[in-house]
Amino acid sequence: MLLHIPEVFTKDEVRALRATLDSGPWTDGNATSGHQSALAKRNAQLPETSPQAQEVGAIIQQALQANPMFVSAALPHTVYPPLFNRYEGGQAFGVHVDNAIRQQGRNGVRIRSDLSATLFLSEPDDYDGGELLIEANYGSQSVKLPAGDMVLYPSKSLHRVSPVTRGARVSSFFWLQSLVRDDGARETLFQLDVATQRVNIDKGPADQAVIELTGVYHNLLRRWAEV
Ligand code: NI
Repeated sequence: MLLHIPEVFTKDEVRALRATLDSGPWTDGNATSGHQSALAKRNAQLPETSPQAQEVGAIIQQALQANPMFVSAALPHTVYPPLFNRYEGGQAFGVHVDNAIRQQGRNGVRIRSDLSATLFLSEPDDYDGGELLIEANYGSQSVKLPAGDMVLYPSKSLHRVSPVTRGARVSSFFWLQSLVRDDGARETLFQLDVATQRVNIDKGPADQAVIELTGVYHNLLRRWAEV
């Protein structure tokens, strides 16, 4: 499932995040690539140990925890600390699959990447190109979102970033390990949660159907979750 999560941040919040990020020590992006993707990647990246990356990364982590759509769709177990990249002057990232295992430093958090996310921090009008192209079950999807919006997609998907031919595309990207490893099971739980919330709005939380659907949700999660 490819999910667009709107307005993780307001425009004012994005401006503040960008002011911090833009003052950071941007360097060549190949520092975080696996062997295969290092060959395909041309961009700039903020070192993950830089104060700017850590400050904005922590703000993003907090915003994600407070975002009901993200929590319901991702069922996050561990979110890898967000990273930041910038594409300009024809830079691009060729087609690749993200590494299965991510470890931050030698003793840092280690996760299995179930889901990949890109949080857009530039407005689409500010650059040409820079689409995130994701191979999904139903064909290739082109994603270019307003600043402050995020896309979540299975890490197993082939994807690439098309060349940025005008302006600059700044974004945050990160991976997460989900409580539910299987994409189909996780998507079914999300659909059940969305449907249950809909009935809840119509009937109220004391309605028998809402209570039973909530029970089914938790009993499926109990079967499928790895904590
Ligand atoms: Ni990638």
